[in-house]
Amino acid sequence: MSAIFHIRMAVPGDLDAIMALLQVNQPVFGRLLRDHVAGELDPSPGMKRKYWFVAEQAGQVVGTIYCYHGLRDISYPNYLCVDASAKGSGIGAHLLEAVESQARDMGQKSVQFQCPEGNSANALYARLGYTNTGRELASRNYLINWERTFRRT
Ligand SMILES: CC(C)(COP(=O)(O)OP(=O)(O)OC[C@H]1O[C@@H](n2cnc3c(N)ncnc32)[C@H](O)[C@@H]1OP(=O)(O)O)[C@@H](O)C(=O)NCCC(=O)NCCS
Repeated sequence: MSAIFHIRMAVPGDLDAIMALLQVNQPVFGRLLRDHVAGELDPSPGMKRKYWFVAEQAGQVVGTIYCYHGLRDISYPNYLCVDASAKGSGIGAHLLEAVESQARDMGQKSVQFQCPEGNSANALYARLGYTNTGRELASRNYLINWERTFRRT
């Protein structure tokens, strides 16, 4: 498959593709309800702090990421995943960059997220320059805390 891809904000028509990616990665993310995700794709005003982005390659959605831009100037990316056919081409890094750039544009102070210990994505976050701020015990395993700060005040 062509390595050319582009990242865009998700629209309601992307729901099936996003749910398919989340389904494959259910062991990592747990189960997300379709109605819940559909609500977050709703373009109506009032949803302006919750966004999904998708990566498209040859007309197919091959990756996604969610971000909640919190009220206290911190943004929380989550659910980053890329289809097996498209991994290793920089799509994951670009999806993360898309939410990070949106967070900066919104004047947010930092992005923070967690990743299960042992997940190879932790190496990617380190390579992208995120700061590992420790780990915490979740129900089944440890989660690594990652952060990038844009401004201190
Ligand atoms: C984590 C995940 C989203 C990364 O997606 P991806 O598109 O493969 O990510 P990238 O291509 O940007 O980078 C991944 C690797 O490819 C390599 N890579 C990046 N650009 C590349 C290129 N142009 N050519 C070859 N390799 C490349 C990077 O070195 C990186 O390796 P590293 O992780 O060992 O440092 C994907 O593996 C995935 O969906 N995982 C399952 C879900 C998951 O666990 N998500 C994270 C939850 S915290």
